[in-house]
Amino acid sequence: MQEAIQKHLAEIAAHTASTPEAVEQFRIHYLGRKGILNDLFEAFKAVPGDQKKVLGQELNKLKIAVQEKLESLQAAHASTSGKSEGIDWSRPTGALPLGTRHPLAIVRQEILDIFSRIGFTVADGPEIEDDWHVFSGLNFPPEHPARDMQDTFFIHKPTQEGEKEMVLRTHTSSVQVRAMENQKPPLRIVMPGRVYRNEAVSSRAHCQFHQIEGLYIDEGVSFADMKQTLQYFTQEFFGKAKIRLRPSYFPFTEPSAEMDVYWGLNSEADYRITKGTGWLEIMGCGMVDPAVLSASGIDPERYSGFAFGMGIERITMLRYQIDDLRMFFENDVRFLRQFQ
Ligand code: DAH
Repeated sequence: MQEAIQKHLAEIAAHTASTPEAVEQFRIHYLGRKGILNDLFEAFKAVPGDQKKVLGQELNKLKIAVQEKLESLQAAHASTSGKSEGIDWSRPTGALPLGTRHPLAIVRQEILDIFSRIGFTVADGPEIEDDWHVFSGLNFPPEHPARDMQDTFFIHKPTQEGEKEMVLRTHTSSVQVRAMENQKPPLRIVMPGRVYRNEAVSSRAHCQFHQIEGLYIDEGVSFADMKQTLQYFTQEFFGKAKIRLRPSYFPFTEPSAEMDVYWGLNSEADYRITKGTGWLEIMGCGMVDPAVLSASGIDPERYSGFAFGMGIERITMLRYQIDDLRMFFENDVRFLRQFQ
């Protein structure tokens, strides 16, 4: 037996296998059910007690040598042929399901594209803001109801001096203030982003949604420029050319207006969404209040401008006839897959 073991050890050391089949043959030859190791272990049972210790050690040495050789042969073939442990790494996979873009992302990009064609660039600002950029810098009087706890999420930010009261921005108009502080006119920017309001969730309200703000400041910008710009947008986005501007109020614009688009009354759904009027409210807008310009260091004697703001959810709902706002936030793939 001793001799047989030595002979096998020498054989194993010298063994080569040029194909995966040869590796498999080696495995069966030594480790198979009727292989050499099984035979030797069977024979070992009949070995006299005084030889068992030495022979047992020899036999274990052989077993380890076989296993190590097999591993190294398999590894050599895995790296040359791409096959290992029965896995064929070169096999093509099945088709992976592709994700789709979120409807809000599609519409946001479309709006940005429309404005970029007339020279607007994109600007960005933080979602966690201070009172100045969300309210005071936009001419909100100290007791204005929009600052009320009902609408605004307040947070306390630890600072070196103690704490600073911050808010989650309630509108993207805050980015206007940052832009005016940091850049010299002319300014022609659109500012998309997420905003927060402390409201109960329903089919028409959510505590987190998206807006796009626009701002245009230069010498001699007029209300007519604003109307022309917004009309261009409605034509491009909705394919509808008829708009109207209704007088409204915002602290940061004077005069202020609400822009409606004439949607038409061609179907039953049109009657429902326009409440029988044919008109749909799309956005707020107005001429930037001189007090807002000077608060951000822009000379209102020299410059004027207009601003506008719209909710992306609302416009997306109109575009795709979605009637529940919550659909946007549930991430149900059956809903999302419809926007290829
Ligand atoms: N910030 C306003 C809101 O959240 C929307 C808005 C209205 C923005 C008029 C403007 C504007 O820039 O001129 O309801």
